[in-house]
Amino acid sequence: TRPKITVVGSINMDLITETSRFPSPGETILGENYTTLPGGKGANQAVAAARLGADVSFIGCIGADLNGEELKKKLLEEGIDVRGIDTSKVKPTGIAQITVTPDDNHIIVVPGANYELTSQWVEKNKGLIINCDIVVLQLEIPLPIVGEVITLAEQHGVPVLLNPAPAKELPENFLEKITYFTPNETEFMFLTGTSTAEGYEIAFRSLRQKGIQHVILTRGKQGVVFEKDQQFLKLPSRKVEVVDTTGAGDAFNGALAFGIASKQPLHEAVEFAIKVSAHAVTKIGAQAGMPTMEEVQRLQ
Ligand code: RIB
Ligand code: NA
Repeated sequence: TRPKITVVGSINMDLITETSRFPSPGETILGENYTTLPGGKGANQAVAAARLGADVSFIGCIGADLNGEELKKKLLEEGIDVRGIDTSKVKPTGIAQITVTPDDNHIIVVPGANYELTSQWVEKNKGLIINCDIVVLQLEIPLPIVGEVITLAEQHGVPVLLNPAPAKELPENFLEKITYFTPNETEFMFLTGTSTAEGYEIAFRSLRQKGIQHVILTRGKQGVVFEKDQQFLKLPSRKVEVVDTTGAGDAFNGALAFGIASKQPLHEAVEFAIKVSAHAVTKIGAQAGMPTMEEVQRLQ
């Protein structure tokens, strides 16, 4: 049977500029290329899981505009259940202004309608949250909504994967309800108040003591760290031809949710997610490089 995953999160139109370098403050430079592509951490993670073969429902909010229509249509084409998408009457669909250089990217998100997601809408779509194998969230929607969804899932014994991106202060009572927590290094340092992810052991355990069941720290090129039987396990990243790292974390999280919902042991799910995100960075745009299960199986 196909794993059932519900993503509650953001959906954006990504406005992507490719350039050889970032401009300095006050400077104008000429870029090489411009494209608009579907994005938003929530939608990206939903697409990652759906391409792998999960039954995915998405809960979020778009504006009453062309971007919103286009994004919803794209999710439908991925086979995602979009009945949980609300339309705001007051705010436009979220956008992300992304600058991609050969080495790095910069992103500015204007959330717009993503911040119009309401408690009433969550309540109306409660069935999607309590009847699935895992609920996946990020932090591009209002924090109180994230809290409500986590509480709802926990009350019904549904595991929760929270990808704390972008980093935000989290109320302590959230943490004890989180099953899987997947910060990257920046988010991890912010959340634990440490200045380096090198000496992560103590900070890692402090998060665990606050009640999070599994912390999975993603370190980009340095791979992924998590705990198994009180030991730290480090899985290496994969060497690939990087074109655009935008959405690498989303590919990882969508795939991790897929693995967990398919009842893979955690270390297998993490290894699988590393493979999927390595594939994702080989194309421009957050979703374009996200592989199908067949494509993952073809990778060594
Ligand atoms: O994680 C990448 C995503 O972050 C982009 O698609 C952009 O929309 C922002 O939400
Ligand atoms: Na990509």
